[in-house]
Amino acid sequence: MKVAVLAETDADEPRVAATPETVKKIIALGAQVAIEPAAGVKSGILDADYAAAGATVAPDAVDGADIALAVRRPERAALSRLKKGALVIAIMDPYGRDDALRAMAEAGVVGFAMELLPRITRAQVMDVLSSQANLAGYRAVIDAAAEFSRALPMMMTAAGTVPAAKAFVMGAGVAGLQAIATARRLGAVVTATDVRPAAKEQVESLGAKFVAVEDEEFKAAETAAGYAKEMSKEYQAKQAALVAEHIKKQDIVITTALIPGRPAPRLISRSMVESMRPGSVIVDLAVERGGNVEGVAPDAVTELNGVKIIGYRNVPGRLAATASSLYAKNLYAFLENLFDKKTKALAVNWDDDIVKATALTRDGAIVHPAFAPKSAA
Ligand code: NAI
Repeated sequence: MKVAVLAETDADEPRVAATPETVKKIIALGAQVAIEPAAGVKSGILDADYAAAGATVAPDAVDGADIALAVRRPERAALSRLKKGALVIAIMDPYGRDDALRAMAEAGVVGFAMELLPRITRAQVMDVLSSQANLAGYRAVIDAAAEFSRALPMMMTAAGTVPAAKAFVMGAGVAGLQAIATARRLGAVVTATDVRPAAKEQVESLGAKFVAVEDEEFKAAETAAGYAKEMSKEYQAKQAALVAEHIKKQDIVITTALIPGRPAPRLISRSMVESMRPGSVIVDLAVERGGNVEGVAPDAVTELNGVKIIGYRNVPGRLAATASSLYAKNLYAFLENLFDKKTKALAVNWDDDIVKATALTRDGAIVHPAFAPKSAA
C-alpha cells in the first residue's frame, strides 16, 4: 500500500497534507509513504524531516500510488499517474467545477472532498473546515491589528489614556468565534452578528455583545447541518440597516459570512465603508467566495476614504506551519477511518456516512448526489 503526499502545484498554496508526525502514523497503519520533494518546505518541514519519519522522498512519489494526500485538488497530470481506483483525499472545491470532477472520474480515481464532511461528532477530528477556519479567524485579527494605526487595548499611561478599539465580527461560525476570542485577548471591545440563533449564546459566552435582527426568520435560520440559509431580501434589508448604524462606530470589522455552495452574502456596502472613520480596518475572510464587502480585492489591501479593506485569500496559508499540522491530522483521521484496524488493510465502508458524504467520484463516474449529472442522479 503506497500513500503519496503531493507537493502543491499552486504557488499560492504553502500548506502540505502530511507532517512527520502523521507520516509515522500512516506507516503504523501498514502503508509506505512517498513524498514529492520540497512538499513541506513552505510549512517549515524539510525533506530530511520526512525521511527521518520513515518516508521516501522522490520525484516519482505519485507513480502507482494507492492513496494520494493533497491540500488542493490535484491536476489531471498527477491523477493519471496514480493506480486505477486510487483514493485522492484533498480539499476539492467541487462547486461549479464540473470539468475538474469529470477529469477525476475519467482518471478512474475515488476523489474525497474533505470540505463535504458531515458535521457529526465522529467527524470533528477530520473537519478541515473547522481546523483551517479557526486559524483564519485568528489571523484575520492579527492582520487587522497590523494595518490599524492605533492600539487595541485600553492603556492608562502617564501621557494619557488610550481607549480600547471597537471590533465587530460578522458571521460567528468557527472563524468568527476565534476572531472574537482573539480580539478580546488583544483588549478590543467586541460585538458580533450572525443569522443563526445558536450563535448568540456562543458569542456571549466569549464575552462579546450580540447584535442582530432577531425576528421570526432569524429564529428559523439554521439548516439541520448547522449552516446558515440564504436570507430573504426583506431580512437582508433589515440587517443592512442595523449594520449600517453599528458599523459607523467600529474601528475593526472582520467578516466571515458564508453559505455553503452559494456566493458569500454581501454585508457591507461602499457607503457603509465610507461611513467609518479613516484609519479603520476591515478584513474580508469571504473574499474567495466573492466577498462580504463591496470593494474588496483578492490579495490586496484596498483603501477607500482612508478605510483599509484587507482581502487576503488562503488566510490559513498565512500560518502555514500551524495550518499544515492541523490539516495533516485531519487527513490522517479520515484515512484511519478507511482502514480495518485489525487487519491493517484498506477497507472502505461505502455505507459509512463520512465516506458517502465526501466521495465525489468512483468507478469512472461522478457519484456524489449533489454533483452527479442529472440523468445519473
Ligand atoms: P460557515 O463558514 O459556513 O459560515 C460562517 C458564518 O457565517 C456562519 O456562522 C453563518 O451562520 C454566518 N452567516 C451566513 N450568512 C450570514 C449573514 N447574512 N449575516 C451574518 N452571518 C452570516 O460556517 P462554519 O464556521 O463552518 O460553522 C457553521 C456551524 O457549524 C457553526 O454552528 C459551527 O459551530 C458548526 N460546527 C459544527 C461542527 C460539528 O462537528 N458538530 C464542527 C464545526 C462547526
